[in-house]
Amino acid sequence: MIPSVGAARHAEKVAAWGADAVMIQGGEGGGHTGSIPTTLLLPTVVDAVDIPVIAAGGFFDGRGLAAALAYGAVGIGMGTRFLLTSDSSVPEDIKQRYLSFGLDGTVVTAKADGMPHRLLRTEFVNSLEEAGRLRQLLPTLRRSLQFKELSGQSWREMARDGLSMKRGTGRSWNQMMLAANTPMLLKAGLVDGDTSAGMLASGQAVGVINELPSCEALVDRIVDEAVLRLKAAAGTVGVCV
Ligand SMILES: Cc1cc2nc3c(=O)[nH]c(=O)nc-3n(C[C@H](O)[C@H](O)[C@H](O)COP(=O)(O)O)c2cc1C
Repeated sequence: MIPSVGAARHAEKVAAWGADAVMIQGGEGGGHTGSIPTTLLLPTVVDAVDIPVIAAGGFFDGRGLAAALAYGAVGIGMGTRFLLTSDSSVPEDIKQRYLSFGLDGTVVTAKADGMPHRLLRTEFVNSLEEAGRLRQLLPTLRRSLQFKELSGQSWREMARDGLSMKRGTGRSWNQMMLAANTPMLLKAGLVDGDTSAGMLASGQAVGVINELPSCEALVDRIVDEAVLRLKAAAGTVGVCV
């Protein structure tokens, strides 16, 4: 079991529960685990626990891997970088759309389901951000119905799962109402390719990615670059104050 955490105290808690390793997710990534950036979250978690720590949030190249290893991580996790590969099953025009966004092209919003998510700042996401609760009510109910059909669950099963999620995560009734929004909005954007009615999850790394390599070529390139960077750094150790 490798839980994803956004704070050292959460890492300590899951380590005490017997987690095999922990993945930190800096604020540069999906946004669900808080806003602390990888550069601060990673060292605090490495210092706090004795289990292996994997670094995620903002990684896209070999320099990042070398930096994460230097901080004491055992490796890196990447979401946005793997989404933007030729192997990813996301529709081609959607991948091209991602490539057009810059470093300021994402926004963390809780408007989709009451929990924070980092999304590409599309017109649809801007409209979600601006819409009041009442305007969201009908589309929310429609998506709940779509989710019910897609998952094959009965209303009773959905209510039971929702209640146990509410108890386990302390979500409000409003957040529970919106819970089915996220899978449906992500499916509309990332699977159906409809950006006028769906959302596109993304880390800030989208702003520095400009091509779609295969996963194999990407991993080889990142490992080669990290090895070169670490060897070069070993020859020139210096500290700026
Ligand atoms: C399209 C997409 C969907 C994601 N969905 C989830 C999710 O459902 N739950 C979750 O905890 N993290 C999710 N993440 C976050 C990743 O697991 C990972 O922690 C994050 O992408 C790392 O940051 P990076 O994108 O900068 O590499 C998602 C990321 C992307 C890009």
